[in-house]
Amino acid sequence: MEGSFFCMFRRALLFLSLHVLMICFMHQGYAYGVEGKIASRSVSVSSLLPSPSCSPSTAKASGRKSTLEVIHRHGPCSQLVQDLSSLNHTKILLQDESRVKWIQSRSSNSSNSLEASAVARLPVESGITIGTANYLVTVGLGTPKKDLTLIFDTGSPLTWIQCKPCVVSCYNQSDPIFNPLKSSSYANVSCASTACSQLTSALGRSQCLESTCLYDIQYGDNSSSIGFFATEKLTISPKEVIDNFTFGCGENNQGLFGKAAGLIGLSDNNISILEQTAAKFGKYFSYCLPSSTSLIGHLTFGNDSGAPSSVSFTPLSTVRQSSQFYGISIVGISVEGNPLSIPSTVFSNGGAIIDSGTVITRLPPTAYSALRTAVGKAMANYTTAPAVSLFDTCYDFSNETIVLIPSITFSFAKGVDIDLHPSGIFYAEKASQVCLAFAANGADSDLVIYGNTQQKTFEVVYDVAGRKLGFSPNGCF
Ligand SMILES: *[C@@H]1O[C@H](CO)[C@@H](O)[C@H](O)[C@H]1NC(C)=O
Ligand SMILES: *[C@@H]1O[C@H](CO)[C@@H](O)[C@H](O)[C@H]1NC(C)=O
Ligand SMILES: *[C@@H]1O[C@H](CO)[C@@H](O)[C@H](O)[C@H]1NC(C)=O
Ligand SMILES: *[C@@H]1O[C@H](CO)[C@@H](O)[C@H](O)[C@H]1NC(C)=O
Ligand SMILES: *[C@@H]1O[C@H](CO)[C@@H](O)[C@H](O)[C@H]1NC(C)=O
Ligand SMILES: *[C@@H]1O[C@H](CO)[C@@H](O)[C@H](O)[C@H]1NC(C)=O
Ligand SMILES: *[C@@H]1O[C@H](CO)[C@@H](O)[C@H](O)[C@H]1NC(C)=O
Ligand SMILES: *[C@@H]1O[C@H](CO)[C@@H](O)[C@H](O)[C@H]1NC(C)=O
Ligand SMILES: *[C@@H]1O[C@H](CO)[C@@H](O)[C@H](O)[C@H]1NC(C)=O
Ligand SMILES: *[C@@H]1O[C@H](CO)[C@@H](O)[C@H](O)[C@H]1NC(C)=O
Repeated sequence: MEGSFFCMFRRALLFLSLHVLMICFMHQGYAYGVEGKIASRSVSVSSLLPSPSCSPSTAKASGRKSTLEVIHRHGPCSQLVQDLSSLNHTKILLQDESRVKWIQSRSSNSSNSLEASAVARLPVESGITIGTANYLVTVGLGTPKKDLTLIFDTGSPLTWIQCKPCVVSCYNQSDPIFNPLKSSSYANVSCASTACSQLTSALGRSQCLESTCLYDIQYGDNSSSIGFFATEKLTISPKEVIDNFTFGCGENNQGLFGKAAGLIGLSDNNISILEQTAAKFGKYFSYCLPSSTSLIGHLTFGNDSGAPSSVSFTPLSTVRQSSQFYGISIVGISVEGNPLSIPSTVFSNGGAIIDSGTVITRLPPTAYSALRTAVGKAMANYTTAPAVSLFDTCYDFSNETIVLIPSITFSFAKGVDIDLHPSGIFYAEKASQVCLAFAANGADSDLVIYGNTQQKTFEVVYDVAGRKLGFSPNGCF
């Protein structure tokens, strides 16, 4: 279904370029609005719903040298899942809310000021809620190489894994726990080394045990990892091996990491994988999050020959007091090709970031309310369903097989317009309750967060050295 969906999409685009000023013309499932922009598309309801089985043949970037497959933590492609029915959307969305509260408590304009004062006393660069960072990759570590499945998170500074011996406690992971004594390439980092002082500046602290450097990272949901700062051989792919990769070898770990063996932090700082691989990959990575938990995406380091040619770039910025995140500038939103009539300052008041670990995009209330109204108008002929969790605009599609949904376009600084995939517009737990996948912040001055649902199927390119963020459509299915 998805394949033919995209064939249709390409044909429709070709048709579009020949008939640019066609007003409200229906063609192969697409209705065009003003100036030939796609206004709405028909989507099968089943394509919006989670699928019970994995479609492994869907990875598109497998020809690239330094690419890892990306798998959803709670989907059928994950070996970490034993029981698909254990997927609890209520829980995921509650954790999402706690991650957002923590991120926003750090930006000065937050309406979550109570938490802001409490969190301000904690060391920098820790405290994020990790339970929602739902995407996994598998890398090799050590000599001989052991495969480890890790969560990746653009909002986390440090890469760490669980290590033996678990002196206090380890949580239950799916891979065997890494044993540094069985690896010939493992070494402890000494307290006197540059790496240890960089750890101190990135995490706000470090400790010494018999002149060996120790790290301690605490997350906002009581998850934590404590252990030795160490170096090891990291194998990204058979052709991409990084010697002396610095990471945390955690002997006391607890929290919401599911059965993952640890975490890859992709934020920009001196201990991150980006800085450590800068000579090789130029502080450049991209990922594509698939439309469904049953499909596979990718995480790619560097700009290699297989990279998409049509990437639109918007500047990356630094958001004051949220410097571990990637700042972006949203300038507007259109529904069915019509810009919502809201002043663009609504988006710049509190600043905006893009995050791989937040599930649902948080908008200024003024923008959210205009979006909800426009979508409600376009969906007026469908039966509404009760609000649930973060969502207040839901539909009952249980009697529908195909639905016509409005297009939603985000406009970013420097003229970048991206037309969201249907999986980035609706969040469907079941056909009888399919909800508009956005939520409002407490105040227009709160930090705006562009979450992972809205990033689905785009190849999202982080050119950190060049300070720009790119989007390329159809990066994965
Ligand atoms: C889902 O999670 C919520 C919040 O943690 C909990 O109250 C509820 O009982 C859970 N539902 C199921 C079916 O486990
Ligand atoms: C850990 O997971 C294994 C199977 O993956 C299971 O047999 C075992 O009981 C679990 N242990 C705990 C403490 O949950
Ligand atoms: C790392 O340091 C700790 C503490 O000094 C020590 O117990 C451990 O054996 C060291 N590991 C290696 C491989 O040197
Ligand atoms: C974290 O643990 C502390 C102490 O055990 C508890 O008071 C607090 O409620 C916990 N926070 C969360 C988010 O679970
Ligand atoms: C890695 O570290 C070892 C031991 O500290 C050192 O001998 C080796 O030269 C380093 N390799 C690279 C590529 O930096
Ligand atoms: C890395 O460290 C240097 C010097 O300590 C500092 O100037 C620089 O800002 C740091 N870079 C990042 C990304 O934190
Ligand atoms: C990526 O590489 C291609 C081909 O070498 C080049 O045209 C493009 O400008 C590069 N992209 C960035 C963002 O550097
Ligand atoms: C905070 O919000 C006010 C408007 O409420 C705005 O004028 C100001 O620029 C904002 N500050 C930051 C740092 O975003
Ligand atoms: C709803 O249905 C009516 C009657 O079929 C039609 O005239 C109208 O255009 C539809 N509205 C939308 C928003 O599709
Ligand atoms: C679906 O169809 C059944 C049978 O016609 C009807 O009873 C039910 O109300 C319909 N549900 C919705 C949401 O339209």
